[in-house]
Amino acid sequence: MKEQLLNMKEKASQALTSAKTLQDLEDIRISLLGKKGELTAILRGMGGLSAEERPVIGQLANEVRSFIEDKIEEQKKALVASERAEQLKSETLDVTMAGKKPVIGKTHPLTTVLEEVKDIFIGMGFSIVEGPEVEYDYYNFEALNIPADHPARDTQDTFYINDNVVLRSQTSSVQVRVMENQKPPIRVIAPGRVYRSDAVDATHSPVFHQIEGLVVDKGITMGDLKGTLEVFMKTLYGNDAVLRFRPHHFPFTEPSAEVDVSCFVCGGKGCRVCKGEGFIELLGAGMVHPKVLERCGIDTSVYSGFAFGLGLERIVMRRLNIDDMRHLYDNDLRFLNQF
Ligand code: PHE
Repeated sequence: MKEQLLNMKEKASQALTSAKTLQDLEDIRISLLGKKGELTAILRGMGGLSAEERPVIGQLANEVRSFIEDKIEEQKKALVASERAEQLKSETLDVTMAGKKPVIGKTHPLTTVLEEVKDIFIGMGFSIVEGPEVEYDYYNFEALNIPADHPARDTQDTFYINDNVVLRSQTSSVQVRVMENQKPPIRVIAPGRVYRSDAVDATHSPVFHQIEGLVVDKGITMGDLKGTLEVFMKTLYGNDAVLRFRPHHFPFTEPSAEVDVSCFVCGGKGCRVCKGEGFIELLGAGMVHPKVLERCGIDTSVYSGFAFGLGLERIVMRRLNIDDMRHLYDNDLRFLNQF
């Protein structure tokens, strides 16, 4: 029996040293020390031993048991440690490795300049409003003093959805929406897309952007319009910018004007960019027509107002010295990265 026990100790020692996983260890423990294990089987033979042998073998059996238990414990620690080392190795992060360079985008020139324009008007106490791009004929034309048979409709080459609904051809539609919903004093700008059935060329696109301005209050005059636009242009283009008002006609303003700014290249002498004019046309403007005010329920014996409509593309082209509007829509990064 002594032999058997020592044999078992030897075998166990080898088996445990070569165990690879915690499950291996557990299997070995059960097969050696479990209720139906090898040790129990050996000890069943104790009955046949003499009274002197019995305590000796008993003691040896206990030694073998605690040897095996210690060995399992020791092996368990070793396995856990090496598992952890393995895990740490696989999760190592080499902070000296070259990284991927993030590509940082930037805003489109139209957005950049629109933000500048908004900031200037916000500085003068204006709020920013928006209106729908798919608009009722009523807001785009009718309420602006342009009835169905008015020749001004022809010049706008409108996209019709049906008889009553159009893609708005001007942001002036927002003037009416604001005046219907807000009592004076009103001081707003309304930037947004407008649509006209124009062929694409260097200065035309079927989709472009306008910025509408509207001020309605007591005692508003053409002087307020001129002063406001003057401050706006000088802030945007510098103190040397000179404005020129030319008489014009819009059905929804009276009097009306087209407003030009002195050429930023030649300063007014005349050059290739301004086609020898010395000035560049930037917007339409005027005093809001009394009929438009009254249709919106505004008392014209108390209130008056001015309105203007700027072409954003033009402003951007003048501001950033771009000679072809198509560049603004091509999304060519070689172009866009210059700004
Ligand atoms: N809506 C006009 C246009 O698109 C511009 C304009 C706006 C004129 C406001 C006067 C007042 O041509």
